[in-house]
Amino acid sequence: MAWVTLNRNEQICDPDAAPVLSEAVRAKIRSFFDRYDTKRAVLLPAFHIVQNALGYVSFPAMVEIADLLEIHPSEVLDTISFYTHFWTHPKGEKVITACRSISCEVMGGAVVLEELKNRLGIGEHETTPDGKYSLVTEECLACCDYGPCLLINEKLHQRVKPEDVGSILADENNDTLSLERSDLFDAPPDKKTSNSGAEEETVVVGAGLSSTSDVQEMKESD
Ligand code: FES
Repeated sequence: MAWVTLNRNEQICDPDAAPVLSEAVRAKIRSFFDRYDTKRAVLLPAFHIVQNALGYVSFPAMVEIADLLEIHPSEVLDTISFYTHFWTHPKGEKVITACRSISCEVMGGAVVLEELKNRLGIGEHETTPDGKYSLVTEECLACCDYGPCLLINEKLHQRVKPEDVGSILADENNDTLSLERSDLFDAPPDKKTSNSGAEEETVVVGAGLSSTSDVQEMKESD
């Protein structure tokens, strides 16, 4: 996202609304406190945890993060708006990140990006109507000798040619990692008690490899 200017006279969060961060998410953020000298230093881990749990970091979530870390909400917004990795609005089930840096560019990255846009029917930082894909570009993905590169969620696709794009998009497992994935920033599932008294697990939205689509969820809750 880009730098955001807010009208300070406008109420952007309902102070009476229910919290958006579950206790599990809060506990995971607190678990990082011991690692750093200040709570403020936990801001980036907090963004990862919240984004992995909810799919994006909404304004209410920013206010709750600020509360946990004992900093002002404006500092949270200032920080998150610097990083394109973090989303402040719903994104698709899978985020395609195409490299726009020089090595990939000279190997044809711009043509691959155009093919992606044409096939998905969306531009940069947009989401397909079915909520399946969002498309962004980033500077170097640190795999310059295998360009053009793109990420689908956390899976890297190397030496992508325009003619590969169709089969990559058609592959349901195009974001499945072949390596074990770190769960450092994943929020644990919430525990809740069912009517029978048994403990049930509520899967946290967006956690793990098979995240659900935030856009789809928003449509269903409308
Ligand atoms: S320039 Fe594309 S990965 Fe480095």
